[in-house]
This record gives sequence, C-alpha cells and structure tokens, in this order.
Amino acid sequence: MHPGESGYIGNLKIKNRIVMAPMISNLGNPDGSTNENHISYLEERAKGGFGLIITEYTFVNNRNSRGSVNETGIYDRKFIPKFRRLTERVHMHGAKTFMQLVHAGGKASQQYNRMRSFAPSSVDYIGTTPWELTQQDISEIIEDFVHAAKNAKDSFFDGIELHGAHGYLLSEFMSPSLNRRTDRYGGDLEGRLRFPQEVVEAIRSEIDFPVGMRISLYENGDNSYNPEYGLKIAENLKGLDYVHFSAGIFNPPGSSASFYDSRTHIYNMLPRRPAVTTMVVGSVIDLNDAERVLSGADFVAVARPSLADPYFAMKLLDNNKPIRPCIRCNQACRDLALGEVRCTVNPDTGLENSIRHYPVQKVKGHIAVSGGGIKGMEAALEAAKHGLEVTLYNKGERLGGQLLSITDKRKAIEFSKLIEYYEKALKMAGVEVVLNSENRSGIICAPDKVYPDLPEKDEIWIDSNIYKHHDQALEMAENHKVYMSRRSLSSLDRSRVLEYEKLASEKGIVFVDHAGKNFDISIVERNQYDIRSAMVSGRELIREYIERNSSHYL
Ligand SMILES: Cc1cc2nc3c(=O)[nH]c(=O)nc-3n(C[C@H](O)[C@H](O)[C@H](O)COP(=O)(O)O)c2cc1C
Ligand code: SF4
Repeated sequence: MHPGESGYIGNLKIKNRIVMAPMISNLGNPDGSTNENHISYLEERAKGGFGLIITEYTFVNNRNSRGSVNETGIYDRKFIPKFRRLTERVHMHGAKTFMQLVHAGGKASQQYNRMRSFAPSSVDYIGTTPWELTQQDISEIIEDFVHAAKNAKDSFFDGIELHGAHGYLLSEFMSPSLNRRTDRYGGDLEGRLRFPQEVVEAIRSEIDFPVGMRISLYENGDNSYNPEYGLKIAENLKGLDYVHFSAGIFNPPGSSASFYDSRTHIYNMLPRRPAVTTMVVGSVIDLNDAERVLSGADFVAVARPSLADPYFAMKLLDNNKPIRPCIRCNQACRDLALGEVRCTVNPDTGLENSIRHYPVQKVKGHIAVSGGGIKGMEAALEAAKHGLEVTLYNKGERLGGQLLSITDKRKAIEFSKLIEYYEKALKMAGVEVVLNSENRSGIICAPDKVYPDLPEKDEIWIDSNIYKHHDQALEMAENHKVYMSRRSLSSLDRSRVLEYEKLASEKGIVFVDHAGKNFDISIVERNQYDIRSAMVSGRELIREYIERNSSHYL
C-alpha cells in the first residue's frame, strides 16, 4: 500500500497512512496544560503532511499517574480551552489528532505525583517498589480514564490512544513478569487483559469516538514476553478501533532503537498481520521502510524522524525532496530529564514558536563559504534560504568533515545519511559545490572545537564522555587494554548506555570509578560540541554576515 493512500480508523478518514507517533516533549506547562510552544511544535508536523498526529503521553489523574516533568495532563476540565486551541491548529492543516492517555503505574515519577506509585504487583521497578493496587484503586483509575477521554473529546480530539506499552500501567497488567496477581486481574491471559479491557469498555460505554491502544509487541529483557504473546494481546482485546505496535518495557533496544539496531526493527518481529486495524512504529526512516511496514500493516508511525524533519510525511510523498534524516543517535531528543525536546540534526526542533517570529530576511548577492563539514554545509543552506547565491568550497574530495572519520561502522552508516541529505539539499538549493579547493576570502567554516584523538598506548585509561572517544575506545579495545570511567557514559541516554556497556564488555573494556585514577585523557562536558552545535554555529555566521551587510542590501 502506498503511504499516500487515505485510510480509516473506525469511521474516521485519515488523509494518508503516515502517523506522527507520541513523544514526550516537555514543552507543556508544569500543571499539565498546553501552550504556544507545544502547539506550534505539533502544528509544524501537521503542516508537514502527517495524516494523524498522536500527542505525547498525557496523564489521567493528578494523584499517581504522572510520568515526567511538564508532561501534559487532561485530568481536569480547566485544560479543555487550551487543548481546543491545539486541535484547532492541527486541524487547520488537514491532519487528525488523537490524544495519548497514560497512567504511568509503577513508573510514575515520585517527584511529580502526590502519592507513591502503584502497580499491579509490588515488584522492583529499577530501584523503586510500588504499592499493589486494590480493587478500589482499580475502579478509581478506570474512572480517571473515562473522565480523561471525555475531556479529550470535548477538546475536539478525533480519538484517543490508550498507552498500553513500555511498562506503564496498562502494559504492566498485560505483562506476565510485572503482573503476579492471583485475583481476577492476573493468573492467565484473560485475567491479565481484564483491567485494560475494563478501561476500554468503560470509555466505550460513555463516549462514541475512535479508541486505540498502543501495545508492546514484545518486551526486552529477562522473563520478557515475545511477539506471539504481543499479537495475542492485540487479537484478544475487544472494542478497539486500532492497535499500535511498539516494543519494550525497560531494556534496550525497545522502541527507540539506536543505530546499533536494524531499521523497521519492530515490524520485522511481527509474526503475521493481526485481525484488527494495525499501526506499527520503529526506525522507519525513508520511503522503502514505510512501504515495507505498509505491506503488513494499515498505518506506519514515525516518531524521531518527525523531530529530525517536521516535513517528513510531505517529503516522503514527494520523492524529490530530501528528508533531513534521523540518524538514531538518541542524543538531543532523549535529554528529557530536565530539558525540552531537541534534535541533534535539526536546530529548530522544540523552538518552532520562537522561530516563527523571525521570518527569513530575503537578500541578494553572492557569498563564498569555505569548509564542507556540517557547519559549512548548514551555513551554505542557510545562506541560500536567505536568497544568496552560494559557492561552497571544500578542501577534500568529499563533503562531510568530521563525520567522515567516524570509526564505529554502524554509526558511520547511519550518520552518512546526513551527508547524503546535504548533498541533495545543497543541489536543490542551487548551491555550487567546489571540491578539492579552498577559498579563504569568504565565510570560513572551520569546526569551533576539535577534540583530540585518544593517545596510542598499550594500556589506555579513558575518562571522557565525548562521543568520538566512545567510538575510538571500542576500536582500540580490539588490540589494547582499555579502562574507562563510568561517568564517560554520562552523555548517552539509558538505552545507549546499556548497549554500549554490552559492546564494551564483549571487547574487554573495564569500567572503573573516576575518583583516584590517573587517566590518559580526561574530558567530561555537560554540553559537548556536536552536530547540532556545528549547525547552529554555521547558521549564526550567515545571520551575522547578513546583519553586517544589511545596509548593502537595502
Ligand atoms: C523523545 C521521545 C519521547 C517519547 N515519548 C513517548 C510517549 O510519550 N509515548 C509513547 O508511547 N512513546 C513515546 N516514545 C516512543 C516513540 O513513540 C516511538 O515508539 C519510538 O521512538 C520508536 O519510533 P521511531 O523509531 O520512529 O522514533 C518517545 C520517543 C522519544 C524519542
Ligand atoms: S536526536 Fe538523534 S535520534 Fe533523536 S530525533 Fe534527532 S537524529 Fe533522531
């Protein structure tokens, strides 16, 4: 099936098969309400051609259901007017929107809830042990879901998605490893599905609009369930208009797999097409991936690629337009403990509301940009966007700068897609690229920072959270003894930490505490100079250039 074909969820017509998957953005207000930053961020993706936008997980009560800071909430009718503004702005671009409802269960944040966390069973949740839910708690939470769904409907959402994946409450009930109950809510598949089923039925009995559920097709880790069990869940739950397959509970690769995993990694595990309208997410980066998923599912959902390029859907349907690719680095977008959503390859992500107040100033003239790394390529694109004729000089025979020296092969494959993007985008923008040549008279785009290589030693002690050093350490460990401080992994998200530790231990890297050691290299930075910093710096140079020469353009 072609991604551009329209489709149905229940009776609701969706203009194409491409769905923006739910993602916590931290752009909402601390009380859970939405605001212009959050709305503009979603509106940009609606403008970008997605047929359906599923909002980030949204908590259903203010007692014990909240997962994270600035997560959106819908437990009170006072939130409706602002959410109406959100749905209105998404609808303006022909997209539909569903709100994802969550009770975070045992994963509820202790910091942001009034009560201690609850779960089906009192088992260990990575260091915390929640209380076991009583029948009364269960009945109250079902009510919370119904109220939240009503509020979503009154906010003019076109439907709701219940979050039944990733180890949150509904998924905890369905998970044999997390649900150890012996009452009617546990014991066997029927018992484990009872709570989610009751939530669906309670909502259905009060509200007539599309209701779907996100389900982990499989979990990762010890005692985890497999895709056959995930499929059984999907086929045994009644009254759903669609099922959205994601994956995982606590351990990687789970849903947001990094470049160490294959593309379409969740679809690849789907044993067969289920007998219900199906949506599948997971590492869909281009048209081939989307078509692959749509050969066995009704809708394809994309999360991170919509952060990398809000116009992903529109460009996917117009094969000529290069998509700024998500390189599955799990860097900027996963720094959500205290930060808002950002993207390593797109400096605009999360800042849509601020950016729209600064329309692009069109100017005339010619500019030479020297340096074909990320900074220079982004500067050249920025200059072309402002209307300048651009010549980009690169002293080597290939564009890409420091990206060309990435030593980790899997990373290099994924990151090279960014170079391919620039090559196409520069061509489309009419930028003349001159290779094997330097022009020192124009805008010089050298990297602002180049981290040193690891020293060549038989036994090397590394205390560095610099991405380049992570790669080099793996390479050196092939024939050197490598020691690494644990805080070297502080720049990676949890899934990348676990993946890295696994790879490192296979290669014999020994992790140590940093205190009292004599390291050969020690660089630990809160904000290291990375792809995004280089892009921002390249754009800045062009803006400054235009400002400096603005009298010339008047
Ligand atoms: C920043 C971020 C926030 C996320 N928040 C949610 C969420 O609120 N609800 C949810 O069901 N999944 C969430 N996910 C998982 C994504 O919806 C998606 O399943 C995952 O990223 C895999 O899809 P992708 O490869 O297209 O990114 C989040 C992922 C990211 C990267
Ligand atoms: S930060 Fe990396 S993984 Fe996240 S959306 Fe951007 S490119 Fe993709």
